[in-house]
Amino acid sequence: MVVDKGYEKSAHLYDIFDNKDNITFFLKYGEEAETILDIGAGTGRIAIPLAERGVKIVCIEPSPSMRKEFLKKLQNRPELEDRITLVAGDVQTFRLAEIFSVVFLSGSFDHIPNRDRIISFQNINRHLKPNGKLIFDIHIGNMKDSPLLLVDTVKRKNYEYKRFIGTKILPDNMIDVLLVFETYKQGKLIEKIEQRSSAFTTTQTKVHQLLEETNFIIQKEYSDYHYSPFYKGDSLLIIEAIKN
Ligand SMILES: C[S@@+](CC[C@H](N)C(=O)[O-])C[C@H]1O[C@@H](n2cnc3c(N)ncnc32)[C@H](O)[C@@H]1O
Repeated sequence: MVVDKGYEKSAHLYDIFDNKDNITFFLKYGEEAETILDIGAGTGRIAIPLAERGVKIVCIEPSPSMRKEFLKKLQNRPELEDRITLVAGDVQTFRLAEIFSVVFLSGSFDHIPNRDRIISFQNINRHLKPNGKLIFDIHIGNMKDSPLLLVDTVKRKNYEYKRFIGTKILPDNMIDVLLVFETYKQGKLIEKIEQRSSAFTTTQTKVHQLLEETNFIIQKEYSDYHYSPFYKGDSLLIIEAIKN
């Protein structure tokens, strides 16, 4: 049985709403690297543009629906076949025979429960070459309970897509997230999906401790995908660390 961790019902809508401007950011690391591992690769939003530029990339993704969307995008793209390998797996438990010069964890860290973070980062470390790089992003900062609110509207041809988000803070830094997606065709509601997801908040200090305990050295910290430095109070923390 597949456990829905927040993407099973809504994977077909993922790319419509995730329009983060981070492909160029990841491409910089991709072009420097011999081998790349993208953990929690989702629909291939980052991996596919990298492969289109000639980068070879191995992707780990636990969600069958996200993998299905990823594979759909690879149909009729035979030129990408030997550049992308998509593997079903989870950051904590995946095992590959290969080790990599760069690992990406984009948009996935927040989903890893605090209790599983050490084991997950030990596993990542095991899959890196000496001095290999780990690049990951984290949402930092105070989260509050919020009622369900409309956060995005996207229009495409005859379709309009709406996304609503509500959050509830639970004990142990856990956030219960309710996402509601509505699709309208020519003004008529044709699909409504309710999707629950969990995230786990942290602080910069705790992430530093995690990296130290799992044998990483921090090289750089950014607050956006244009390499702006991170300052206390920023809500996005992007870390570039190397295997110690
Ligand atoms: C916000 S999406 C980001 C997808 C992609 N990295 C991107 O930037 O477009 C988070 C992804 O992390 C995956 N994920 C969640 N928990 C995971 C885990 N324990 N191990 C690996 N991936 C996980 C989800 O299935 C989802 O595809």
